[in-house]
Amino acid sequence: MKVRGLLVSGLLMWAGIAHANDAGVALAQRSVCLACHQVDTKRVGPSFRDIALRYAGNEGAAEYLARSIRDGSRGLWGAIPMPAQRHVDPATALLLGEWILSLAPDAQKADQTSVTGADS
Ligand code: HEC
Repeated sequence: MKVRGLLVSGLLMWAGIAHANDAGVALAQRSVCLACHQVDTKRVGPSFRDIALRYAGNEGAAEYLARSIRDGSRGLWGAIPMPAQRHVDPATALLLGEWILSLAPDAQKADQTSVTGADS
Protein backbone atom coordinates (compact mmCIF):
# COMPACT_ATOMS: atom_id res chain seq x y z
CA MET A 1 0.00 0.00 0.00
CA LYS A 2 2.66 2.41 1.10
CA VAL A 3 4.86 1.55 -1.85
CA ARG A 4 1.98 2.09 -4.20
CA GLY A 5 1.25 5.49 -2.68
CA LEU A 6 4.85 6.50 -3.13
CA LEU A 7 4.80 5.32 -6.70
CA VAL A 8 1.70 7.30 -7.47
CA SER A 9 3.01 10.49 -5.91
CA GLY A 10 6.30 9.99 -7.72
CA LEU A 11 4.45 9.66 -10.98
CA LEU A 12 2.35 12.71 -10.25
CA MET A 13 5.46 14.72 -9.49
CA TRP A 14 7.10 13.58 -12.66
CA ALA A 15 3.98 14.42 -14.66
CA GLY A 16 3.89 17.85 -13.00
CA ILE A 17 7.45 18.60 -14.00
CA ALA A 18 6.96 17.25 -17.52
CA HIS A 19 3.84 19.33 -17.80
CA ALA A 20 5.55 22.54 -16.69
CA ASN A 21 8.31 21.92 -19.19
CA ASP A 22 5.84 21.21 -21.99
CA ALA A 23 3.99 24.40 -21.17
CA GLY A 24 7.25 26.33 -21.33
CA VAL A 25 8.18 24.83 -24.67
CA ALA A 26 4.69 25.55 -26.00
CA LEU A 27 4.95 29.14 -24.85
CA ALA A 28 8.36 29.51 -26.47
CA GLN A 29 6.96 28.05 -29.65
CA ARG A 30 3.96 30.36 -29.64
CA SER A 31 6.26 33.31 -29.00
CA VAL A 32 8.39 32.35 -32.02
CA CYS A 33 11.55 31.78 -30.01
CA LEU A 34 12.31 28.29 -31.28
CA ALA A 35 13.32 29.55 -34.71
CA CYS A 36 16.52 30.74 -33.04
CA HIS A 37 16.64 28.87 -29.71
CA GLN A 38 16.39 25.28 -28.57
CA VAL A 39 16.33 23.97 -25.04
CA ASP A 40 19.57 22.01 -25.27
CA THR A 41 21.40 22.94 -28.44
CA LYS A 42 22.87 26.20 -29.62
CA ARG A 43 21.21 27.40 -32.77
CA VAL A 44 21.23 31.04 -33.91
CA GLY A 45 21.07 31.94 -30.23
CA PRO A 46 22.39 30.14 -27.13
CA SER A 47 20.44 27.14 -25.80
CA PHE A 48 17.92 27.98 -23.10
CA ARG A 49 19.76 25.66 -20.76
CA ASP A 50 23.02 27.57 -21.22
CA ILE A 51 21.16 30.79 -20.48
CA ALA A 52 19.70 29.20 -17.34
CA LEU A 53 23.14 28.05 -16.22
CA ARG A 54 24.51 31.55 -16.60
CA TYR A 55 21.78 33.38 -14.69
CA ALA A 56 19.99 30.94 -12.35
CA GLY A 57 20.45 31.98 -8.74
CA ASN A 58 21.08 35.64 -9.60
CA GLU A 59 18.73 38.00 -7.84
CA GLY A 60 16.09 39.36 -10.20
CA ALA A 61 17.20 37.00 -12.97
CA ALA A 62 13.67 36.36 -14.27
CA GLU A 63 12.98 40.09 -14.53
CA TYR A 64 16.35 40.64 -16.17
CA LEU A 65 15.65 37.95 -18.77
CA ALA A 66 12.16 39.33 -19.38
CA ARG A 67 13.76 42.67 -20.19
CA SER A 68 16.39 41.06 -22.42
CA ILE A 69 13.65 39.26 -24.32
CA ARG A 70 11.58 42.39 -24.92
CA ASP A 71 14.52 44.73 -25.56
CA GLY A 72 16.76 42.28 -27.39
CA SER A 73 20.36 41.51 -26.58
CA ARG A 74 23.74 41.92 -28.21
CA GLY A 75 27.34 41.09 -27.48
CA LEU A 76 26.70 38.78 -24.53
CA TRP A 77 26.83 35.42 -26.30
CA GLY A 78 28.48 35.98 -29.65
CA ALA A 79 28.43 38.10 -32.78
CA ILE A 80 24.75 37.67 -33.64
CA PRO A 81 22.37 40.03 -31.80
CA MET A 82 18.81 39.14 -30.76
CA PRO A 83 16.26 41.60 -32.10
CA ALA A 84 13.77 43.04 -29.56
CA GLN A 85 10.83 40.65 -29.15
CA ARG A 86 8.13 43.28 -28.82
CA HIS A 87 5.33 40.93 -29.79
CA VAL A 88 5.83 39.31 -26.38
CA ASP A 89 3.90 41.16 -23.67
CA PRO A 90 5.72 41.80 -20.35
CA ALA A 91 3.78 39.13 -18.40
CA THR A 92 4.58 36.49 -21.00
CA ALA A 93 8.22 37.59 -21.11
CA LEU A 94 8.41 37.09 -17.34
CA LEU A 95 6.88 33.62 -17.65
CA LEU A 96 9.42 32.76 -20.35
CA GLY A 97 12.23 34.08 -18.14
CA GLU A 98 11.07 31.96 -15.20
CA TRP A 99 10.72 28.89 -17.36
CA ILE A 100 14.21 29.33 -18.84
CA LEU A 101 15.70 29.63 -15.32
CA SER A 102 13.82 26.51 -14.23
CA LEU A 103 15.94 24.53 -16.71
CA ALA A 104 18.95 24.76 -14.36
CA PRO A 105 17.93 23.38 -10.95
CA ASP A 106 21.50 22.29 -10.29
CA ALA A 107 22.82 25.78 -10.84
CA GLN A 108 20.33 27.14 -8.31
CA LYS A 109 21.37 24.53 -5.77
CA ALA A 110 25.04 25.28 -6.32
CA ASP A 111 24.32 28.93 -5.77
CA GLN A 112 22.46 28.33 -2.52
CA THR A 113 25.32 26.20 -1.27
CA SER A 114 27.80 28.94 -1.96
CA VAL A 115 25.60 31.50 -0.19
CA THR A 116 25.28 29.45 3.00
CA GLY A 117 28.85 28.21 2.77
CA ALA A 118 27.59 24.75 3.73
CA ASP A 119 30.22 23.03 1.65
CA SER A 120 33.34 24.80 2.81
C1 HEC B 1 16.22 36.02 -34.69
C2 HEC B 1 16.70 35.03 -33.74
C3 HEC B 1 16.16 35.07 -32.34
C4 HEC B 1 14.84 35.01 -31.91
C5 HEC B 1 13.58 34.99 -32.76
C6 HEC B 1 14.89 34.97 -30.47
N1 HEC B 1 16.18 35.01 -30.01
FE1 HEC B 1 16.79 35.05 -28.09
N2 HEC B 1 18.73 35.33 -28.67
C7 HEC B 1 19.16 35.29 -29.99
C8 HEC B 1 20.59 35.54 -30.01
C9 HEC B 1 21.46 35.58 -31.27
C10 HEC B 1 20.98 35.75 -28.66
C11 HEC B 1 22.37 36.11 -28.14
C12 HEC B 1 22.47 37.66 -28.09
C13 HEC B 1 23.73 38.15 -27.44
O1 HEC B 1 24.83 37.67 -27.78
O2 HEC B 1 23.65 39.04 -26.57
C14 HEC B 1 19.78 35.59 -27.86
C15 HEC B 1 19.77 35.71 -26.47
C16 HEC B 1 18.66 35.44 -25.68
C17 HEC B 1 18.63 35.46 -24.25
C18 HEC B 1 19.81 35.81 -23.32
C19 HEC B 1 19.85 37.30 -23.09
C20 HEC B 1 20.88 37.72 -22.09
O3 HEC B 1 20.69 38.79 -21.50
O4 HEC B 1 21.86 36.99 -21.85
C21 HEC B 1 17.36 35.10 -23.85
C22 HEC B 1 16.83 35.00 -22.43
C23 HEC B 1 16.60 34.88 -25.05
N3 HEC B 1 17.40 35.09 -26.15
C24 HEC B 1 15.28 34.49 -25.07
C25 HEC B 1 14.48 34.49 -26.21
C26 HEC B 1 13.05 34.27 -26.19
C27 HEC B 1 12.23 33.93 -24.96
C28 HEC B 1 12.61 34.40 -27.47
C29 HEC B 1 11.18 34.35 -28.00
C30 HEC B 1 10.30 35.37 -27.51
C31 HEC B 1 13.79 34.69 -28.30
N4 HEC B 1 14.89 34.73 -27.48
C32 HEC B 1 13.76 34.88 -29.66
C33 HEC B 1 18.38 35.08 -31.10
C34 HEC B 1 16.99 35.06 -31.13
